[in-house]
Amino acid sequence: MSFRTTSSAFDYVEDVSPGSGALPPRAWYASSDAKALSLDGAWRFRLSATADAEDDSFAEEGYDAAGWAEVTVPGHWVLQGDGAFGLPIYTNHLYPFPVDPPHVPTENPTGDHLRVFDLPEDWPADGGAVIRFDGVESCARVWLNGTDIGEFKGSRLAHEFAVGHLLKPKGNVLAVRVHQWSAGSYLEDQDQWWLPGIFREVTLLHRPAGGVLDFFVHASYDHLTGEGTLRVDSDVDGRVLVPALDIDVATGESVTALVAPWSAESPRLYDGELVTEGERVPLRIGFRTVVLEDGLIKVNGKAVLFKGVNRHEWHPEKGRTLDLATMREDVLLMKRHNINAVRTSHYPPHPAFLDLCDEYGLWVIDECDLETHGFTEQDWRDNPVDDDRWTPALLDRAARMVERDKNHPSIVFWSLGNEAGTGRGLTAMAEWIHGRDPERLVHYEGDWNCRDTDVYSRMYAFHGEVEQIGKRLDGGTQGRRELPFIQCEYGHAMGNGPGGLADYQELFEKYDRLQGGFIWEWIDHGVQHPELGYAYGGDFGEELHDGNFVCDGLIFPDRTPSPGLIEYKKVIEPVRIEGADGTVRVTNKYDFADLSQLAFEWSYQVDGETVEAGTLAVPALAPGESADLKLPESPAHEGAEAQWTVRALLASDTAWAEKGHVVAWGQLPASSPVRPSVAATDRPVRGERLITLGPASFDGRTGALKAIGGVAVESPRLDVWRATTDNDEGTEWNSGIQYSALWRTLGLHRMRHRLGAVELDEDALTVRTRVAPAAREVGLNVVYRWTSDGSRLRLTVSVGPDGEWTQPLPRLGIRLGLSEADQVRWFGGGPGEAYPDTRKASMVGRWDATVDELQTPYLRPQENGARADVRWVELGGLRIEGDPEFSFTARRWTTEQLDAATHLTDLRAGDTVWVNLDHGHHGVGSQSCGPGPLPQYHLRAEPAAFSFVFSVID
Ligand code: GAL
Repeated sequence: MSFRTTSSAFDYVEDVSPGSGALPPRAWYASSDAKALSLDGAWRFRLSATADAEDDSFAEEGYDAAGWAEVTVPGHWVLQGDGAFGLPIYTNHLYPFPVDPPHVPTENPTGDHLRVFDLPEDWPADGGAVIRFDGVESCARVWLNGTDIGEFKGSRLAHEFAVGHLLKPKGNVLAVRVHQWSAGSYLEDQDQWWLPGIFREVTLLHRPAGGVLDFFVHASYDHLTGEGTLRVDSDVDGRVLVPALDIDVATGESVTALVAPWSAESPRLYDGELVTEGERVPLRIGFRTVVLEDGLIKVNGKAVLFKGVNRHEWHPEKGRTLDLATMREDVLLMKRHNINAVRTSHYPPHPAFLDLCDEYGLWVIDECDLETHGFTEQDWRDNPVDDDRWTPALLDRAARMVERDKNHPSIVFWSLGNEAGTGRGLTAMAEWIHGRDPERLVHYEGDWNCRDTDVYSRMYAFHGEVEQIGKRLDGGTQGRRELPFIQCEYGHAMGNGPGGLADYQELFEKYDRLQGGFIWEWIDHGVQHPELGYAYGGDFGEELHDGNFVCDGLIFPDRTPSPGLIEYKKVIEPVRIEGADGTVRVTNKYDFADLSQLAFEWSYQVDGETVEAGTLAVPALAPGESADLKLPESPAHEGAEAQWTVRALLASDTAWAEKGHVVAWGQLPASSPVRPSVAATDRPVRGERLITLGPASFDGRTGALKAIGGVAVESPRLDVWRATTDNDEGTEWNSGIQYSALWRTLGLHRMRHRLGAVELDEDALTVRTRVAPAAREVGLNVVYRWTSDGSRLRLTVSVGPDGEWTQPLPRLGIRLGLSEADQVRWFGGGPGEAYPDTRKASMVGRWDATVDELQTPYLRPQENGARADVRWVELGGLRIEGDPEFSFTARRWTTEQLDAATHLTDLRAGDTVWVNLDHGHHGVGSQSCGPGPLPQYHLRAEPAAFSFVFSVID
């Protein structure tokens, strides 16, 4: 028997070393005067099934690639070619190949890329040149004009090669062979799509004689004196100019000046220049000092509270190839939603994103391109981060991150990576980073003993534990006990949710040690798909995949905010507005800014309609300060519900939003909701086949409602089922709560209704039923009591649980069908959806929407769209008032159809609009990865009674 071994020409693919031939990493910058030539665009492309299928003759000058296909660089080949170039694969932590480090499968899609280019006419004849690859997944070998110039791994890191000696004016042949799998893949097991390709730019950079090589801007701020100290260390001597500060010093020398500091709230950047003999490089300098002091992360002398989000790079058509406009959109959306921090999960982003963070103001945790999560399947045996053979690769990754990104003031933390277990390699990385950049802190979540880190970081810790940590009662190593705490991931934004954010925020604000957190995650990684709308794991026939676990963002793939983002914006708003009895308390919750950049407005609503409005003078409160302010005398509102709404708006345009943009708001009740009352004056009358009562007719045998006035109604009846959410599905390995399975086992999705009695009294029609699932003894005794005053119809539903109920109910209410409904108007919470633990952003008012607009397009269809605290709703010719307030949903499909759908394209509008009027919902929670709903948001099976009043709209 003989084994075929890979020929040595391809050994680099499985070599644990980072590569060979590349230049040492250095700062990433765009020169003011050195020429650059973009090599992006159409490249010739040939895909092979294995790494060694083809020799390297394609790299030679004169090779005829006319018969090859084309791909766009930057781009992932599996997202081009309509499937002809292979397909994306999604796994969370499982390696999609045998765990056999450093070996990868023989079937190793390999893309040969060719590009022929001429130098521009004005390309200088002197000096050198480098070719820079900003991102290639996962391993590449490069030839220029037939010369092999090296190979590299480290997909989301820049690699440069000196090529000046190889260039010629015309007909340069750049050949790049990219392998999908390599030893590097073992270090890149992030929870995302596996997407090979040259996915970031390729650029040829002229390197003038005497040009800048590498430089490190050190710009600190002394909050006691207001002085900034600047020193730019440079490999090549030169001068540093900052005109606004009258600075003109030599590189390597420190200079101090009075400055405005940089913070995420006020991102003051000073434009400067580094001038060497051969080159001028623009600098954007932000003065700030990051320290660990008194067990807290302090910037410029103040402890900061991170209101963050984890951001993967994602575009539904382009994958991890993002253009500047898309990056800017992300930053603007974050700023407009009160987010002040971003963790670049789980790799350094495109450098332009960091420029935007500097410019608009976001605290950044820059994370290294490192995750070995799949080794957890074998108890972390052979984990590369604890195997010295891999340490050079880890150090190379750390250095490539730090050196590339070190001049960004927005970066306050370097993160070693994500979910890589523990080991010597990580310690080596941390030591190197601490030595190279002592002016920033080091983060890593995977080591709860905090051996290498400056912060105790966790993911998905439940509220109770977070509180213990806040109280410093969590124990741990001595080192850890002295550290501040952040949740580098929490609030898993998969599908409907995350619930419980406000409860976390309360803790973060209560305990100093808790310095906030980062929601998982920013965007759903849905892939645009011709039949499915957005595809997720499994849609490309992957043999192993993790389904829609890749769709867990605060924004949908097209970057429309999901309700989770709207909720988060409210929960983290930097101004608290609360109060009662006509007095509003305004509290400044910024870390640095006073309130002078905001204007305040009040409005007064009667039955949800604004009747008066005005401005509110709020002093320029300093961070942490509050003021109690008297609102004007409230206008009369006899017999109606009234409330104040106070808003904090931007007083003038900012870089990220216009004047008038709402930053925060609060509502103060001026009276209680007015409950509908209907005198039970009418008597039910039994006809031949129908029973009539007031405007309504009922089936004579079953007592089922058939019509109200001229409006046909599919009779309301008790409903406890909701199309289970991703959070209801839960995960066994995380919280262990899987309501969906519990509920389905109990049979709550297939309740049967047994009619007990139909009773006609003096003043009421009463229908008695028992609602219960097959095979179980538990049930709900349900009594529907109908009364009328001749024109309005009141239904009171009384529910009495029977038997031993151990599980909460998904929902409790009634479902009815209307044959025609489109426009919906309501008075209550809106404009978006709200559930018991996701309802901070729900504002009481008058709202309208079409039935279609009421749907939230979660990529995997599930319960959505409930409007909460509704006093009344009008749709399909009916007005429905609640006693007490209720939630409603309205859809063109049934809950069962919603439950069965796997993609939005499965949902087809039927003839009936199905309306749920809910007395209660079980909380949403975050147990798709995290805690379930807190007990106060559970919908227990308990006796309940609730009413609705129906009338026909004229
Ligand atoms: C974390 C991980 C993330 C993501 C998340 C669940 O464990 O760091 O990358 O997988 O869970 O969506």
